[in-house]
Amino acid sequence: MQDFESFLAANLPQVETFHPEYNEALQSMILAGGKRFRPRLLLGIVRAYAPLLLESAMMPALALEIFHTYSLIHDDLPAMDDARLRRGHPTLHTRFDEALAILAGDALNTHAFELLARSPFRPDVRIELVRILAENGGSGGMVLGQAIDLRFENEPLTLEQVIELHRNKTAKLIAAALEMGAVIVGLDPQIRRELYDYGIELGLLFQVQDDILDATQSPEEAGKPTGNDSEKNSFVTLLGLEGALAYADGLSESLEERFDVFDEPIRRELGRMIRRYLHRHRQALD
Ligand code: IPE
Ligand code: IPE
Ligand code: MG
Ligand code: MG
Ligand code: MG
Repeated sequence: MQDFESFLAANLPQVETFHPEYNEALQSMILAGGKRFRPRLLLGIVRAYAPLLLESAMMPALALEIFHTYSLIHDDLPAMDDARLRRGHPTLHTRFDEALAILAGDALNTHAFELLARSPFRPDVRIELVRILAENGGSGGMVLGQAIDLRFENEPLTLEQVIELHRNKTAKLIAAALEMGAVIVGLDPQIRRELYDYGIELGLLFQVQDDILDATQSPEEAGKPTGNDSEKNSFVTLLGLEGALAYADGLSESLEERFDVFDEPIRRELGRMIRRYLHRHRQALD
């Protein structure tokens, strides 16, 4: 991942302009860090099957991280979660203003697709990468999840509906990371589908854990405001902290078993990282 961080630092969006804060607004949230979970998944698949393609895969991995960063910038806006802190830094709308934060998000969203279109792969591979990100991040994916999340604040949903919300808001982009890796290395459709389905369950767990961390971590630990989801349809609101922890335990056990069925290269390259994430809701309580 050191390579990814170097690639990221050398390939930040940057434009010629007399606007004094524009480039900083585009770059600072990407540079602020974060777990880089989605690029790790994509690059893990590439490392497993075609390490010679790792360098070329940096661009789609960066596209995914930039797209995710756009989703966070917009998630923090006053009209959405109204958050002042992200990745341990003041959010863009508090540092600059709301208009520039909205626009930086817009720019990163489109920039991600530019990176995919320019990736050093065959045209059919690039088109597939664009399609996967659009389908999972856009109107039938992350954006839909955010719309449901915000529409039903203060209005309780059923467990089934909250799962549907989390699947769209978070899980689809995580599943897309694995599928994009599979497309880059040319895995056959069945294993592509298996990886995508695994990513959906992994992403669901990831958002349940995020809900648990909102209830259990300090803002300093999380690098973002916490204790804010009590009016939202979070898993903790729905099931209580103990119930959410039990739900997360169930998902992580199922994911642990399902992981062991993957081919040796996947187990070798992704096992350690995936296992660390499967248990992070428990580690956070230690
Ligand atoms: C935060 O995502 C929003 C969710 C989808 C839960 P991450 O937890 O991946 O945030 P960073 O990238 O590490 O900052
Ligand atoms: C947002 O979920 C997930 C996105 C699609 C951006 P949250 O609102 O729970 O994310 P955090 O807790 O602010 O990172
Ligand atoms: Mg939100
Ligand atoms: Mg939020
Ligand atoms: Mg959250």
